[in-house]
Amino acid sequence: MPTLAVVGVQWGDEGKGKVTDYLAAQADFVVRYQGGANAGHTVVHRGQQFQLHLVPSGILYPGTICLIGNGVVIDPEQLIHELEDLEQRKIDTRSLFISDRAHVIMPYHKEQDRLEEERRGAGRIGTTGRGIGPCYADKVARYGIRMVDLLDRQSLETVLRRVLPFKNALLQSVFHHPGFDAEQLAEQYLRYGEQLRERIVDTVTLVNEAAENGKRVLFEGAQGTLLDIDFGTYPFVTSSSPTAGGVSTGTGLGPTRLQRVVGVSKAYATRVGEGPFPSEEKGTAAEQWLRERGHEYGTTTGRPRRCGWFDAVVARYAVRVNGVTGLAITKLDVLDGLEKVKVCVGYRYQGQVRRSFPTDLRLLAECEPVWQEFPGWEATRTATRYDELPSQAQQYLKAIAELAGAPVALVSVGNEREATIVVEPDLLF
Ligand code: IMP
Repeated sequence: MPTLAVVGVQWGDEGKGKVTDYLAAQADFVVRYQGGANAGHTVVHRGQQFQLHLVPSGILYPGTICLIGNGVVIDPEQLIHELEDLEQRKIDTRSLFISDRAHVIMPYHKEQDRLEEERRGAGRIGTTGRGIGPCYADKVARYGIRMVDLLDRQSLETVLRRVLPFKNALLQSVFHHPGFDAEQLAEQYLRYGEQLRERIVDTVTLVNEAAENGKRVLFEGAQGTLLDIDFGTYPFVTSSSPTAGGVSTGTGLGPTRLQRVVGVSKAYATRVGEGPFPSEEKGTAAEQWLRERGHEYGTTTGRPRRCGWFDAVVARYAVRVNGVTGLAITKLDVLDGLEKVKVCVGYRYQGQVRRSFPTDLRLLAECEPVWQEFPGWEATRTATRYDELPSQAQQYLKAIAELAGAPVALVSVGNEREATIVVEPDLLF
């Protein structure tokens, strides 16, 4: 029985929620390994729309165990809110467990996120304002608070006594913010600890036992490869490792035990926030088409997403970095009715064409995309099998798989679960 990761191979929002939901139906465990409430998965389940930020989408399937791994940063208030919302809608959440090692997003992280963004001005990253960057920074600086600390008054008070003077000094002297009160924070976060106590466990053992016992374990990535702290368009990235390597550090599953990596990509491309995006369409009819037909507005922030064409340079890079074993191409139907569909196959910079993804942001911002055009098609929306797709759409999929260097395992042609075409079942569960 395989362990399988679902990762984004673009800038996030690839439709991982839909793919994860589809695969979660067959999974015994669904595990988040990085990120936090900056992620926003929209899942349509039995006619109801769910917007999940922290809770893995496997929660919608009775009997599926959901884990939030140590690599995730948790805003307990947000998590409790999500759980309450699910319970109100008659979804049983008793199978959700949280790593005792996961770090906690504190109110000062959210304030710091907002204030730092303000201070950056034109150089802002365009963060989701959920305190993600400051929380991971504190984790690495060894100033973090972990979920286990919320279970014991003495531990929490000790860690707050050590950490809060530094945070307050920063907030007060750099940002003229009044700072936070240790006692009040301790009371508030101990209450959250009490509410979540039954769920805060050693997930490292759970995840490894699941793999050893041949369970189907699905690792649900948030964000995408180009938002990865190491491999993304730094500094316009998130502060975690959405790539497949993050599965190991973010859950404690040894790297050799991850068997499949499904790389999710839209049939075109989008990005929210700032930073380079070579295949972007700006102020064109194509941009309008992709945004409106694709409903390209952020789940977490509501911001309109920047839109453009499929970028094969990005795809090939992401396939390598993640060791993608199969691609899931989503939102193919958004391209229905277009006369021509474009793909960026290289970056022209100072007269030379590059086919590898550059590190230098200036180069990325100044390069000209090299386009390859494909004939459009009428409709993919009603297809239920690969051979029912229009031949031009098949040709398009074949081309992007070749350019990316990985086979297409699955294609999505609509929001609903039914609008999913399995191309290579052996590449999935
Ligand atoms: P942060 O993760 O809130 O620190 O934001 C850093 C960057 O990642 C910003 O450009 C965000 O727009 C982007 N980002 C964070 N989470 C997501 C996501 O789930 N989808 C798309 N972009 C995201």
